Amino acid sequence: MDVGGTFTNAVLNLKAVVEQSADTKQKNDYQVLRPGLEGVPVTQSSICDIDGSKGNLTYRGYSISELTAQSSFLETAYLLIWGELPNPQQMRDFEAEVRMHRRVSFRVRDMMKCFPATGHPMDALQSSAASLGLFYSRRAIDNPKYIYDAVVRLIAKIPTMVAAFQLIRKGQDPIQPRDDLAYAANFLYMLTEREQDPLAARVFDKCLILHAEHSLNASTFSARVTASTLTDPYAVVASAVGTLAGPLHGGANEDVLQMIEEVGSASNAGAYLDEAIASKRKIMGFGHREYRVKDPRASILQELAEELFARFGKDEMYEVAKAIEIEAEQRLGPKGIFPNVDFYSGLVYRKLGIPRDLFTPIFAISRVAGWLAHWREQLGANRIFRPTQIYTGPQPRTWIASEERISSLNN
Ligand code: ACO
Repeated sequence: MDVGGTFTNAVLNLKAVVEQSADTKQKNDYQVLRPGLEGVPVTQSSICDIDGSKGNLTYRGYSISELTAQSSFLETAYLLIWGELPNPQQMRDFEAEVRMHRRVSFRVRDMMKCFPATGHPMDALQSSAASLGLFYSRRAIDNPKYIYDAVVRLIAKIPTMVAAFQLIRKGQDPIQPRDDLAYAANFLYMLTEREQDPLAARVFDKCLILHAEHSLNASTFSARVTASTLTDPYAVVASAVGTLAGPLHGGANEDVLQMIEEVGSASNAGAYLDEAIASKRKIMGFGHREYRVKDPRASILQELAEELFARFGKDEMYEVAKAIEIEAEQRLGPKGIFPNVDFYSGLVYRKLGIPRDLFTPIFAISRVAGWLAHWREQLGANRIFRPTQIYTGPQPRTWIASEERISSLNN
């Protein structure tokens, strides 16, 4: 008796069954529509971890609260992109390189002068970020030097471009970066044309840390999809900026302030929420696909807001925001909807004197670190993104000559 042969045949048959069932399962899976890819893993990543039920967020294993307390934005960006905290020499080199590349070409500035002054700064940023690809278009994405230089350039130049558009749309010439100022202080200087209080710069730097990365959100997914085509990193960042601009993503922080102002006083918060919920309007700055508790970044931003108010004076809208949070907790808390990162960030930026439509570009200044980390990771194990669809259109049908067509408008 050929036991070995029988065994082999049995194994082969079993394998065929497994493969067949895997094949059937795969076919069935393809028929399951997952709008927004909710709950569908599409990549492996070692950059950021979110525990949405406990409200924990880590970058490369370090908790967000520790990073905001101990690190700087540039150090955090280094950690995100290269995977480990830099040693002192690496940090000095990285800071020096970023400082050296802060200026943008006069050609980019001249191009920005042609943008309509009434255009949204996110659109200005998307176009200017994409334009960098014209200057550094070599797609040498297998060359570590090219990758390092692209990282440095994007982190260095994006704040300069955001500040430049702010001055240009006011009819002024952009001012040059100041080499004696650190990253956050220099941005505030380029934006407001005066050197800010060190506390303001420190708080702003912490805001950048808080917004630097958040796993596979819409803009990061967009960055990875673009990266998967092996295009240049400037196109990767430009596509992510475009995605971040939407009101369901980074754009929500502008709407939050508008909502707080509309509510106007703490005593109106309950009635406003009742009306908004009854008419199925989303409360801006609340809810998150990942968190079922208060976003840890919202708690830190609230502390930062309080720090600024203690030093530079209160913002009466803060009391309104707190009342909205309390009232919303009663109404939306049972559904796991709590303040997200956008809820308190607007109040912080407002206290720093930042115009409302720059809130999202500032988010982009910070998130470029996360996008670049994902760009590198995507290149490390690339497979072009190409999901499938469930076709719902007509079955093949016969061409109808123009004169025989019945206008659907007449029906
Ligand atoms: N206000 C009121 N109800 C809400 C809110 C909200 N902000 N968010 C979710 N819900 C409700 C929905 O109405 C829905 O209720 P239903 O099941 O009774 O129909 C339920 O919660 C699920 O809502 P979805 O929109 O399916 O939840 P999703 O996970 O897709 O939404 C999102 C996440 C887009 C962030 C959503 O909460 C939202 O639109 N929030 C307001 C906009 C905002 O603040 N965006 C910034 C997010 S953070 C960031 O991108 C940086």
